[in-house]
Amino acid sequence: MPETVYDELKRYVRFDTADEQALRALYPYARPHLVAIADVFYDRIFSHEEAHEVLVRGERQVGHLKETLVAWMDSLLTGPWDDAYWSNRYRIGRVHVRIGLPQHYMFGAMNVLRTELGRLAWERFHQEPPALEHVRNALGKILDLELAVMLHTYREDLLAQRARAERLSTFGQLVASIGHDLRNPLGVIETSLYILRGRLGEDERARKHVDRIAEQLGVANGIITNLLDMIRDRPLARQPVTLARVIAGAADAVKRPPTVAVALEGLEGLPDVDGDPVQLRQVFVNLLENAVFAASPAGAVTVRGRAVDAVVELDVEDTGPGVDASTRARLFEPLITTKERGVGLGLALVKRIAERHGGSVGYSDREGGGARFTVRLPAIMSSR
Ligand code: HEM
Repeated sequence: MPETVYDELKRYVRFDTADEQALRALYPYARPHLVAIADVFYDRIFSHEEAHEVLVRGERQVGHLKETLVAWMDSLLTGPWDDAYWSNRYRIGRVHVRIGLPQHYMFGAMNVLRTELGRLAWERFHQEPPALEHVRNALGKILDLELAVMLHTYREDLLAQRARAERLSTFGQLVASIGHDLRNPLGVIETSLYILRGRLGEDERARKHVDRIAEQLGVANGIITNLLDMIRDRPLARQPVTLARVIAGAADAVKRPPTVAVALEGLEGLPDVDGDPVQLRQVFVNLLENAVFAASPAGAVTVRGRAVDAVVELDVEDTGPGVDASTRARLFEPLITTKERGVGLGLALVKRIAERHGGSVGYSDREGGGARFTVRLPAIMSSR
């Protein structure tokens, strides 16, 4: 079996049985203080605005997190520091990657633990300097190992992201070539259909079928156009766009069961935006398709608009289950999907189109449950 990262690092820092003993020697004194250390740990996060935000985005209750941190410190000081121990640490590392915690907070958080545990070591051993030094060294080694494992999970995640980007570029090339190849046969069908139409005479049924083929041909061509648009950034054909009209058109185009109600609120009277109406329509078709999917089999979807300073904000809300913390961190990345038959390009395209218009898209939980996507687009202030 190849040597794992922590084995290699353990060898480097020379974490050995003497260190294990030193940690275990501190444990009986430290044990009653671990809950207080967990309090300091989370107080520090709470008093730090950005770190606090990550905690709020995470799903669990802080009370429960304190318990898990106490268990974490318990095993830190008692081991056994075997394969199972480190696999569990990797798993914990991945939990933080999953919730999108920036890795630099790990240094800050580990520093708090180092300070607090170092203080306990001093209290317990300051009258025995050699023992104190030993415990301090052992703490230094194990906490550095922990940090290394945490950071390694971030690196693994980065590599996985790169692999995904490569997959996407291969996928993009594939889609482009299939798209181009399909245009030719569709073109032939279209020409033949044109000729056929002229020879149908009075046969009503045949005419109906030819119309249906022509309609489906249009749908197939539309799908190819959309796919190709996703791959090569089509330039924006800018003009003043009335969003109420674009969104109403998008809402009409999205199929939904009669048990999912769609309401459009506050869209009339919004300032126009300088944009590409076709691409903006795509933004709302994608968001509404997702919202209807989430709200099904029965529920409600609401699009709500408002102007805030020089920006038009549009919420697309649904009464579905909302987006869980792990998906949230990756929501707008391509190839991320929770749909069984989805490819995961819809939201990535929404983000790209919004940003190309100088705007943005964000996610927040809807009050009372469900998802809320907010699209922000710069308004043309003089238009009204
Ligand atoms: C030395 C640093 C840290 C350690 C040792 C640590 C330890 C842990 C442990 C043991 C868990 C439970 C994992 C599980 O069993 O599922 C956890 C989860 C979590 N931690 Fe940390 N943590 C650290 C830093 C942070 C920081 C700095 C934050 C936020 C600013 C944070 C936020 C969270 C959240 C939100 C979860 C719950 C995630 C979920 O399951 O939804 N942690 N942490």
